Amino acid sequence: MYHGFPTDMLSLLRCPVDAGALRVMEESAHQQYLLQAELACQDCQARYPVENGIVRLFDAATLDSTSQHEHPQRDHGAAKDNFKWESSAMSRMEIIPMLKSMTPLSGATVLELGCGKGRFTTLMAQNRATIIALDFSLAVLQRLATRIQPHWRIGLVQADCTKPVAAPRRFDRVLSTLVSNLPTAQHRRAMFQVVAQALKHDGKFIFGAHHHGLRERLRKVPQAGQYADSGIFRYLFRRREIVAECAPRFGRVRCRPIQVLLPMTNRLGIDSVTLSRLAERVPLVNQCGELLMDIAEKPRADV
Ligand SMILES: C[S@@+](CC[C@H](N)C(=O)[O-])C[C@H]1O[C@@H](n2cnc3c(N)ncnc32)[C@H](O)[C@@H]1O
Ligand SMILES: [Zn+2]
Repeated sequence: MYHGFPTDMLSLLRCPVDAGALRVMEESAHQQYLLQAELACQDCQARYPVENGIVRLFDAATLDSTSQHEHPQRDHGAAKDNFKWESSAMSRMEIIPMLKSMTPLSGATVLELGCGKGRFTTLMAQNRATIIALDFSLAVLQRLATRIQPHWRIGLVQADCTKPVAAPRRFDRVLSTLVSNLPTAQHRRAMFQVVAQALKHDGKFIFGAHHHGLRERLRKVPQAGQYADSGIFRYLFRRREIVAECAPRFGRVRCRPIQVLLPMTNRLGIDSVTLSRLAERVPLVNQCGELLMDIAEKPRADV
């Protein structure tokens, strides 16, 4: 059960308009959790509601048309599954390397961009991280709220990740699973800037993106396209391309394919998750990776 937004975590957030600090109006400031409350920006005085413990910093009118299509689709998808797919082989091929790159999580303060229904959030919370879980879909955040255990330290935030909503130099880790869904390089640059400012100097940014790998290249799949079921935009990256995009904001960027699907795995009798983990580091073979995992360090907030 989600008690509400932990009041002491409010200092991790900023006003999406001008990055001003937020304060709680009324007497709820003295409570341990904010359930129904109003926040005000100390700079521009804009007001933001907290509803059922979710801090609402989102304004759909500021999205471009591609994200305006995605936003209601994500809301509609919120009730769809029963979380079973989260433990599927495909999902574990993604989760295991990403979470391993984020260790140690115990005691770490994490900003999660595009948390969805909490596939990563719940695991990071079990590992005793303090998490700002952010998504622009209110419905997915409400679904995630139903999974939260009373002792977890999680604050739910509805916001656009391209706006300066995170406090500077407060986060040990940032995780993002939405890079491929951002409509343009300009949006991605805006998100990289938010991340570089939010991270502590020794912090790490771990993100996943769809890969324009061997299979897609052979099949001549265009890099920009939509998911067949929802029509949501997704971009398939080449390794060099995504590294070049985030490099201006980070002094060190590593990138490798993950979720490596190899033909005839079943016949070899090897567990597909184990095989994917082994193949991640094998040149050429890892070109069959469906995702790219990036680890960016040494944030440059001042560029
Ligand atoms: C690919 S899903 C990942 C969900 C979850 N983290 C997972 O791995 O299962 C991307 C998520 O990002 C959210 N999203 C997309 N664009 C966003 C934006 N500009 N700001 C905040 N959230 C966004 C979507 O609502 C969606 O929940
Ligand atoms: Zn403001």
